[in-house]
Amino acid sequence: MNTYVCGKCGYIAFDNVPESCPVCGAKKEAFSLDNNAIKRPTDPNNLSELEKKHIPVVKIERKCGLIDSVCLDVNIKIGEITHPMQSQHFIMYIDVYLDKNLVSRYHLTPEKLNPALGIHLKVNSGKLLVLENCNLHGRWVKEELL
Ligand SMILES: [Fe+2]
Repeated sequence: MNTYVCGKCGYIAFDNVPESCPVCGAKKEAFSLDNNAIKRPTDPNNLSELEKKHIPVVKIERKCGLIDSVCLDVNIKIGEITHPMQSQHFIMYIDVYLDKNLVSRYHLTPEKLNPALGIHLKVNSGKLLVLENCNLHGRWVKEELL
């Protein structure tokens, strides 16, 4: 799976370059191929402390407390060991994809926010991908089948 990075906002496109960036609107010329843009754990069965602090944890609730119709609650936390949110070291954003298409970018600021996010999906099937970007340690992902 090829990964293309938007040179303006850091958005990652999977497989193909879009006509324009869904986050910042940059044209396709702004994208460049970088198959090392996402960090992967060395051994998925034996995570290091750094990996435990960066790989998103995803919890899905099939019944929503807010919306009556079809709504999946997707609760996301960065790190099995909660990632720091200090001005020198923090999670800058969390991008959520469904079947490789962006559904949400959540920008975070340090100091007052925890590295977590809750979203409400109107669909109940597909492949969810959560990508986070740490200002010091780069991008990490977690994939989950709905
Ligand atoms: Fe980090």
